[in-house]
Order: sequence, then C-alpha cells, then structure tokens
Amino acid sequence: MAILRFPDQDRIVEDDTAIRTELAPAGIDYERWSLDRVPSDCSADEVLAAYEAEIDEMKRRGGYVTADVIDVNPQTPNLDAMLARFDKEHTHLEDEVRFVLAGHGIFFLALDKGVAAVEVHPGDMLRVPRGTRHWFTLCADKRIRAIRWFQDTTGWTPHYTESGVDKGYQPLCFGPAYLGQRVESSITPVQNA
Ligand SMILES: [Fe+2]
Repeated sequence: MAILRFPDQDRIVEDDTAIRTELAPAGIDYERWSLDRVPSDCSADEVLAAYEAEIDEMKRRGGYVTADVIDVNPQTPNLDAMLARFDKEHTHLEDEVRFVLAGHGIFFLALDKGVAAVEVHPGDMLRVPRGTRHWFTLCADKRIRAIRWFQDTTGWTPHYTESGVDKGYQPLCFGPAYLGQRVESSITPVQNA
C-alpha cells in the first residue's frame, strides 16, 4: 500500500484510511484495488479486459474517454529523458489517474498544507485532479506498470510551473523493498495521523 510523507513536517502516514483523509481535501482520491485478477506477465490487452468493470466505473466517475497500460522498466528506450519530462513541478489540463500493477514511484503533490510525497505500490489507485501542482519519479527499480485514464490524451501535456520547488525534495522511496537502500532520516513514522 501507499506511503504518504510530508517531508517538511517529518511526518509519515501509512494507514489507508488516514491517507485518504489527508488527500481528500485536495480532491485527490486514493484507493486499494485487488491485484489477483491477472498474472503479472499478462499482456496489456489482458489487463484492460480483466479490469474492464473498474475502468468503466472510473470513466463514469471522471468523464474519462479512454484507458491504456503504461509499462516502463530499466530497458525502456530513452527512459531518463522520459522521466525528466515529469520530475519537475507541472500541471495538466486533465486528471492524472493511475492504478499501479507493478513497480513503484512517488507522486510529489504541492498541496495547501505543504508538499506531500505519495509513494505508490502495486494495488494503489491514485487520482490527481487537473490543475494540481505535482511531479513524479520512479523508485530505484525504475519500474512501473499502470492503467492510465484520459479525458483527452492531448490534455496530458505537462505545463511546467518553473517554480524549482521540486529541487528541494529527494526522490527517495521508503517502501519495504528499499530498506536496504534506505538512508538515515529523522522522519518518525506516525500511524493513523
Ligand atoms: Fe503529471
């Protein structure tokens, strides 16, 4: 499940319900969905077929017209250039909606109450409303496979804020898979905060 951090407040939220409560005022939805629908090595078409009900429900909820599966791994051509498009603070004219099937990443969200870093793991669904200032980075495994929804694929172009705020936050992942790489931190985990 996701890990929510507020780096400026030395605060970590790891409880699903508490994460939802923290993100809801910004209109951000966080949900946990089942991963047992398809084997991890299935094709994109099999994923889209297996999750058809959820995909259609999200389309109804958010007015999305299409969905696809993005699949990124360390062998993806021009991976660093691709990631560089999204690791600086930006907005989109449409929602950014992801259901993570494999891999890990961090959505940094510039909220009224400060920057929130949402580390997403397999089974996490995150919906970030249009206009939300954010940036994204992969974890050390440089792997993410996710279902994406679009209201209009042309709306997903990043509009950079040029604020430079992203430079002040380390793209460090804290999940269980990264304990071996975890750096010293003064952050104290807080449950049900
Ligand atoms: Fe984005």
